[in-house]
Amino acid sequence: MIKILFVCLGNICRSPMAEFIFKDMVKKSGRQNEFYIESAATSYEEVGNPVHYGTVRKLAEVGIKVEKRCARRLEKEDYNKFNYIIGMEKSNINAILNIVGQDVDKKIFRLLDFSENPRDIADPWYTHNFDITYNDIVEGCEALFAKLVQS
Ligand code: 4NP
Repeated sequence: MIKILFVCLGNICRSPMAEFIFKDMVKKSGRQNEFYIESAATSYEEVGNPVHYGTVRKLAEVGIKVEKRCARRLEKEDYNKFNYIIGMEKSNINAILNIVGQDVDKKIFRLLDFSENPRDIADPWYTHNFDITYNDIVEGCEALFAKLVQS
């Protein structure tokens, strides 16, 4: 079982978007038994809140249903529970390291570092552009999925 935790600042826009896109890819490939996927925040700002409407609407547009969930903060113990802890941008990676400590097992990655064009994923909380964020997250999830299925 490969356990993946997607992480962003608030856990209402980007990391749940990555969680449900990746779950959809896994489901379509028939590999549900091989993966466990969740998402979390580095901040306490949105803890307990539902997925942002912009993420829900964008995913509905492409036929992906969002499960009812509440934002939660990343915990130090998550480092041992997951095989991959995947942030959306450089500042997430620093915040993740501040919470979990050193990445001794080399589990922490930036999502688009799996792609051929490594870069940060912009935060739609600030940009209001869920289309660009969606395209970037799909690019990262496809690259991650290809890597995990090949290895
Ligand atoms: P996310 O977006 O990190 O993609 O979930 C944000 C959502 C909320 C806040 C910041 C970013 N906030 O400051 O409340």
